Amino acid sequence: MNANIVTLPGDGIGPEVTAQAVRILTAVADLFGHRFQFESAPIGGAAIDATGSALPDSTLHACRSASAVLLGAVGGPQWDGAEATVRPEQGLLALRKGLGVYANLRPVRVPDCLADRSTLRPEVVRGVDLVVVRELTGGMYFGDKSRGPGEGGEEAIDVCRYSTAEIERVARRAGQLARGRRGRLASVDKANVLETSRLWRETVTRVMAEEFADLTVEHVLVDACAMHLIRNPGAFDVILTENLFGDILTDEAAMLAGSIGLLPSASLGAPGTPGLFEPIHGSAPTIAGRDLANPYGAILSAAMLLRQGLSLGTEADAVEQVVEQAWSAGLLPADLADASTTPYGTEAIGAAVAALLTDAAMPATATR
Ligand code: NAD
Ligand code: IPM
Ligand code: MN
Repeated sequence: MNANIVTLPGDGIGPEVTAQAVRILTAVADLFGHRFQFESAPIGGAAIDATGSALPDSTLHACRSASAVLLGAVGGPQWDGAEATVRPEQGLLALRKGLGVYANLRPVRVPDCLADRSTLRPEVVRGVDLVVVRELTGGMYFGDKSRGPGEGGEEAIDVCRYSTAEIERVARRAGQLARGRRGRLASVDKANVLETSRLWRETVTRVMAEEFADLTVEHVLVDACAMHLIRNPGAFDVILTENLFGDILTDEAAMLAGSIGLLPSASLGAPGTPGLFEPIHGSAPTIAGRDLANPYGAILSAAMLLRQGLSLGTEADAVEQVVEQAWSAGLLPADLADASTTPYGTEAIGAAVAALLTDAAMPATATR
């Protein structure tokens, strides 16, 4: 296969973890006989410094014509000032909107070899296998914002808006996903307070009744969901929720696996349009440039790019298998290592995972 992959390394640890993901994709291409062309483009703070815009037109254009897009992370304190008129995060939001990637899949798996890495008890997290489907192009992230004088001093407004059509399409995506898994879907909202959540619940209820009657569907309030995720995470299969709730719940869910640095994501839009693949973590500015960043979230995002972005399921399986082998062998970065183990650096992990991939392919290639 020929594929044109646009990489958006971004800021902070973004370039470091993206480099390791590219290394793995390159190894996959070599092993399986594909031709992947990589084209890097600026986004976020790096793009603001270079062009004044957090998402230059040329970057959006390159992403739209790509086979798939791989992103590192954006943001950092140098672009965070109150007086800032343009912010790195706006580039990421504009990219999500510009690609129309409304469904953000964030899987959380806890294999046995990681069960003792979590801050929760191993028996609570062992075997967890859930996916959060986060609506990604609506809600408060994209509603009108304003600021001005009000009765109690300055006033700020963020509008949260959802339409039936926006809820239906992401509900269908989550329903299809649940159907291919354990058939359970938990839709998360705040319908006891928010009007957008009441529309969310009504719409999800109708779509599930009409099109997914084979699934077991429940509705969970977001505050209770945050609690159940820690109490009994193994009970969840697919969690469907709106943009802001999904952002918060997935950082929490990451800790089931032991670190935010582990979680990948796939952001998908209409069939035939390029997906956006990125770890869920941010730019981690305090550890940037020190070979400390956990590259597994980015590497597993590359696996999702192979599976969901390029329909290369066997290749994706191979990457996920060697990642689990690496974890079992103790190839863990500082955020997961304990006092008794020496942490591995970002580069060393990328090199080791690439070597494991090549080793795994040896039996097939050694029969010369
Ligand atoms: P963060 O995810 O960057 O960091 C949170 C904590 O986790 C920090 O202690 C950090 O050191 C650690 N961490 C994160 N990723 C790690 C990794 N791969 N390996 C090891 N440790 C890791 O979140 P934050 O500190 O709240 O935000 C920092 C900046 O990143 C902000 O500017 C924010 O807007 C941005 N951000 C960007 C994205 C994105 O690009 N998708 C996501 C979240 C935050
Ligand atoms: C994420 C991040 C982004 C979000 C920020 C950087 C805009 O936290 O991808 O989870 O809130 O969606
Ligand atoms: Mn987030």
